[in-house]
Amino acid sequence: MCGIFGYCSFLQEKDRKTVCDILVNGLARQEYRGYDSAGIGIDGDKPGEMYFFKEVGKVAGLRKKIAESDVDTSKTFISQVSIAHTRWATHGPPSVVNCHPLKSDPDAHFIVVHNGIVTNAVALRLVLQKRGYKFESETDTEAAAILTKYIYDSQTGKKPTFTELVKQVLHELEGSFAFVFKSSHYPNEVVTARRGSPLLIGVKTEKKLKVDFVDVEFAGPESDAKSNSALAPPTSPSGLLAPPSNPGMLRSQSRAFMSEDGLPQPIEFFIASDAAAIIEHTKRVLYLEDDDIAHISGGELHIHRLRRNEEGGAPQAQHRTIETLEIELAEIMKGKFDHFMQKEIYEQPESVVNTMRGRVNFDQARITLGGLRAYLNIIRRGRRIVFCACGTSYHSAIATRAIFEELTEIPVSVELASDFLDRKTPIFRDDVCVFVSQSGETADTILALRYCLERGALCVGVVNTVGSTISRETHCGVHINAGPEIGVASTKAYTSQYIALLMVALQLSEDRISLTERRNQIIQGLHALPGQIKRVLDGDKGFQELATGVLANQRSLLLMGRGYQYATCLEGALKIKEISYMHSEGILAGELKHGPLALIDENMPVIIVMTQDSLYPKVQSAYAQITARKAAPIIICNEEDEGIPKGCQTIRVPSTVDCLQGLLNIIPLQLLSYHLAVKNGFDVDFPRNLAKSVTTE
Ligand code: AGP
Repeated sequence: MCGIFGYCSFLQEKDRKTVCDILVNGLARQEYRGYDSAGIGIDGDKPGEMYFFKEVGKVAGLRKKIAESDVDTSKTFISQVSIAHTRWATHGPPSVVNCHPLKSDPDAHFIVVHNGIVTNAVALRLVLQKRGYKFESETDTEAAAILTKYIYDSQTGKKPTFTELVKQVLHELEGSFAFVFKSSHYPNEVVTARRGSPLLIGVKTEKKLKVDFVDVEFAGPESDAKSNSALAPPTSPSGLLAPPSNPGMLRSQSRAFMSEDGLPQPIEFFIASDAAAIIEHTKRVLYLEDDDIAHISGGELHIHRLRRNEEGGAPQAQHRTIETLEIELAEIMKGKFDHFMQKEIYEQPESVVNTMRGRVNFDQARITLGGLRAYLNIIRRGRRIVFCACGTSYHSAIATRAIFEELTEIPVSVELASDFLDRKTPIFRDDVCVFVSQSGETADTILALRYCLERGALCVGVVNTVGSTISRETHCGVHINAGPEIGVASTKAYTSQYIALLMVALQLSEDRISLTERRNQIIQGLHALPGQIKRVLDGDKGFQELATGVLANQRSLLLMGRGYQYATCLEGALKIKEISYMHSEGILAGELKHGPLALIDENMPVIIVMTQDSLYPKVQSAYAQITARKAAPIIICNEEDEGIPKGCQTIRVPSTVDCLQGLLNIIPLQLLSYHLAVKNGFDVDFPRNLAKSVTTE
């Protein structure tokens, strides 16, 4: 996915350097969303003129290019709108020509930045090329820019408003998107729209806003109907190409931005894909919903709807609330650490406390998850629980599947969202589907959620990002409260998701007297966890020595375990793969003799997770199988385990309850992957080919 940023200032004198700095900083805060290339589009010196700065690679390169340009950065603007974008390439390689903003024509009458995929871009490109429009880039986004110009040029008579024009454009597009449009035909205006990709708007004023919401303005019925396609041959003026009329526009003036004296007031708007880009400017934000179109002009923000909800759909909210962000700027800064990933690994003693805060009463051994309260009995009566997630979030579900089944006695299945959809898995009204996601914006998981919603299942969200699509579209859920996770490799979100899922299982089973002792054991284990995580972190030097010693320059690494530790192996392998680019595989130890044992010899590095639980003897058997083939595994084991053969390389971790042990065992693997990446000189926070949240299929 990509990072979008727009900056609109009204009656606030800003010089061009300030505008560029705000844009580039906004991109830098979202660089984890995509960092193949970046670009900005700002007003030029003459009316209608636009300047572009585009650079392949990290945002720092763009900042340098702007600093070295001979553009007059001292020029000031009383009001201006500008847009910016950091890209994760989907259509067309990273290159300056494929960098957003993309233009409609050489004079840049329309420019656009986009996050998502226009799935009918190829068809649009062919139609527009047949009508003589020239494409420069290989992107899908350029079709939206040129289509905007085509529709504008086709309008005879009175030209549409910017909002009406964009509405017509979006009616022709298929796929998922978050767009911001800027145009020389509509100076000092932007129109932004979302369908399937996140978008929020920060509001900054000197005076307090009159109200903390913005009305949603509904068009009349006639303008809702999907008119003839703009690309159909021009027909009678009554067709789409005639000046659209909006007799039915039910415009309810946006009351939020009227000042006491009714005069326009200085104001700034910050449009972004992620709150991390807004927090340094303002905490007042408004989240756009799917099919919202926001129009910023004249110091006002108006929200329209691209289309009404389908008949029978959930009633449409009549306004969008201006909320207050809970995150702090410090949370999205690296502080004393070299990388966000390192910071987030070290934050885990605190983040796990934040996940449990206000929810676990250790004295009474009670769990209270407010977001589930009204649904507990429905979930308990569920025929089965289906977890749906991707990547690390999937692993947190694997890690807690067994304890879920033990405590709830409900069958649990864990699905990779993409495969779940590929199989068109049968889902029924009495199913409980749980969607685990750090970003809450992962396309595969969102599509799986909507698939389950359509089939009437109860949908529960376990999400880190407040206001995200999954957290808003599920019936109920739990925010894991891990704080913003910036590093692409998920670490503190994993341990917090793990704990959040454990808390759900504990709360669901609070009515089972027979499980009281087991529940108390787990809850007490949770109480000791933060201190135990801290103890594991204290062994960091040893993990660094492994990365620079015995595991340095290895081509592959096998991790094996079973039971609760299978998830540890899967997650550890993913960490190593995604940031040190070293092949690594998590293996269920019980599967060794069914094939993977063939990989074992004295040259194959192995980590075996052998912490004490009911399966310890079986893992010992796996240990014997591999050492009989001359493997010299590193053993993750408990501090007090005296059964470990002498001379073995060990990673000692504190003991805890079996279903919690994975929360400690993963820490060494997180740090090991980090040190391997640093040793290899790779970009830990922005690993190649990846992005923090995959908002495209
Ligand atoms: C994990 O380190 C990766 N960043 C990736 O596997 C991630 O967990 C996956 O894309 C799911 O993201 P989500 O939790 O935001 O849905």
